[in-house]
Amino acid sequence: MAEVVRKVLLTGVTGFVGGRLLPMLQDQGFHTRCLVRSTHRLRGSLERGPQVEVHKGDLLDREDLLRALEGRDAAVYLVHSMGGRSVLHYMDYIERDIRAAENFMWAAEQAGLKRIVYLGGLGEMGDNLSPHLASRQQVGEILQSGSVRTTVLRAANIIGAGGAPFEMLRYLVERLPVMLCPRWIDTPGEPIAVQNVIEYIAGCLGEPATAGGNFDIGGPEIITYRQLMLIYARVRGLKRLVFSVPVLTPYLSSFWINLMTPVPAGVVMPLVEGLKNKVVCRDHRIRDLVPLRLISMQEAICEALAEVSLGPGKLPSRQACFLD
Ligand SMILES: NC(=O)c1ccc[n+]([C@@H]2O[C@H](COP(=O)([O-])OP(=O)(O)OC[C@H]3O[C@@H](n4cnc5c(N)ncnc54)[C@H](OP(=O)(O)O)[C@@H]3O)[C@@H](O)[C@H]2O)c1
Repeated sequence: MAEVVRKVLLTGVTGFVGGRLLPMLQDQGFHTRCLVRSTHRLRGSLERGPQVEVHKGDLLDREDLLRALEGRDAAVYLVHSMGGRSVLHYMDYIERDIRAAENFMWAAEQAGLKRIVYLGGLGEMGDNLSPHLASRQQVGEILQSGSVRTTVLRAANIIGAGGAPFEMLRYLVERLPVMLCPRWIDTPGEPIAVQNVIEYIAGCLGEPATAGGNFDIGGPEIITYRQLMLIYARVRGLKRLVFSVPVLTPYLSSFWINLMTPVPAGVVMPLVEGLKNKVVCRDHRIRDLVPLRLISMQEAICEALAEVSLGPGKLPSRQACFLD
């Protein structure tokens, strides 16, 4: 049985999920060291208490990682390498993500870490899985291949202000009264509110029975992207018509989404490719181990809109820049 952990290395704290997880870890009394590539992207959450340290480093550098992991019990892995504005080199993330995961596993073993919690993606290998979703599975497998007990949480779209899936949804529905979409808008998924995601991650750190396990995490509804768009429109009081057109491929639509939204091509293209894959939970074992109130998509969208209305600079993640 794995021990309870208190000293945590948090990666991805300048990102959408990590920026929200840090205050929760602080509230729950974890001593948190944050690994960041650049300190200027950190937001106000670090001002909240003495239980936080910042360590400058990069997952692509093994020595940085060894120093960052020294004296830690556990680590939360919230890193991916997608990004950039290039539509030609958007697949480069795959190789970087493999290297980052291999470095992390090596350094975690050297440092004698007890546990890792990794947040990856849903979707089944062999099922014509998109390169992005396959890469997320591969990272989980690499992290679990070492001696450190790694919990893999798998999620579909995570809904919250500043996150790429919500910002894509928001810009499309706000800007387009009539939407011609590819057939993937009717693929079932099990999206989850970002608040529930951070509750699951913190819950796993506090629950030794989750050590080394694979768990699917989803919200209370199985829902399509079309339904999400219509919920968003209803919440905002917008009349929207959504049609699906068989000739539109995910690849073509990602060019179009890239034009209509401020989310960078390097994120849009891998995410849109993945929308053709059914992303529903294989089971809900996590609900017994980490019980919590699941937030509906309507509530998650209302919550995200309330945060958006606070204005740029008020969100806990750097992706608030999507709002500018
Ligand atoms: N968002 C979703 O809907 C969703 C859904 C399912 C699963 N997930 C998973 O959740 C995790 C977090 O996603 P997110 O949406 O929070 O991502 P995000 O907002 O894009 O943040 C990614 C983070 O990774 C950091 N990073 C990238 N490369 C790094 C490197 N070489 N060394 C150190 N840090 C590096 C970034 O730091 P910089 O600020 O320096 O760039 C940033 O903090 C990922 O594993 C993702 O696959 C997300």
